[in-house]
Amino acid sequence: MNDRASVTLLEVAPRDGFQSIAEPLPTEEKIAIVEMLLDAGVTRMELGSFVSPKAIPQMGDMAKIAAHFKGREGCKLSVLVPNAKGASLALEAGYPDLVFVVSVSEAHNLNNVRQTVAQSLDQLRAIVSEAGTGGEGIRVDLATSFDCPFEGTVPLDDVRRVFAEALEIAPKAEFALCDTTGRADPLTVARRFETVMADGPAGAVWAFHGHDTFGMGVANALFAHSVGVSIIEGAAAGLGGCPFAPGATGNTATEDLHFAFEEGGVATGIDRTKLLAAADRIAALPGGKTASHLRIVPRQRAVA
Ligand code: COA
Ligand code: ZN
Repeated sequence: MNDRASVTLLEVAPRDGFQSIAEPLPTEEKIAIVEMLLDAGVTRMELGSFVSPKAIPQMGDMAKIAAHFKGREGCKLSVLVPNAKGASLALEAGYPDLVFVVSVSEAHNLNNVRQTVAQSLDQLRAIVSEAGTGGEGIRVDLATSFDCPFEGTVPLDDVRRVFAEALEIAPKAEFALCDTTGRADPLTVARRFETVMADGPAGAVWAFHGHDTFGMGVANALFAHSVGVSIIEGAAAGLGGCPFAPGATGNTATEDLHFAFEEGGVATGIDRTKLLAAADRIAALPGGKTASHLRIVPRQRAVA
């Protein structure tokens, strides 16, 4: 549970955002943007993913980026992995903080990682038993926890079942319900979290990964936080549009989340002026699709 007086805004622009830009970005540009986000006070970030370069060529320079930020103090930098091979590469690169992704919907999992949900859970089992820590340090992203681009509304019972199986494999992991398509609504987000959190151990750490396709991103985040979710994910400038969720737009803009929480007295630890500067640089990337309210407000009013 969270104390409701603070929230951790976990930045995913370098992973969910950068993978959406067709032409891979120069590594130096990615590194410069991550440095700006860290300088703004971001303490949790997905740096990228160890995935097949055929599936996501945009992450082909992951090892170089990982080497640059290895051992950076004062923040927890994680990398997304879709299978045991990705986990080995991450550990070799010095990144024990893994984000393992499995979709609740079979169709999305097959499309995203070319495995059934059961096969993905076997990969998680292999990763956890290799590490021998019950999943500590691992974050399990339950993709399509609300809506699937291929199957529509995802039944809550399916979310509970996949969560129960993942929890048995990785009882000490952190878990996220992900609104992969950005179609969830705030009340459903709150209710699903309440139900699934009650299925898990008391004191577990939960995250919400949201996209803003239907304009509900900020409201969804606030409702998730109000029922005890302590980690809210966003992408600076709202960069994104998942290649495996046709029609979805980017993650909710981190600066919009920052405004929503901070104005209500919920501390983020992030400097808004610096965050907006990083968002501006992201918005200037050729080929990127961005969406942000705060960036288009006159800057003086946005930071006042
Ligand atoms: N990192 C790097 N390379 C990997 C890899 C990983 N995690 N997993 C597999 N590969 C390589 C294999 O070594 C093999 O290489 P080769 O052709 O040189 O022999 C090739 O990729 C194919 O391996 P295979 O196990 O058959 O994978 P696949 O083609 O069935 O693809 C995934 C499965 C999971 C690797 C691929 O779909 C993927 O990377 N998906 C990522 C999706 C994603 O990130 N989505 C957004 C996040 S939600
Ligand atoms: Zn996403």
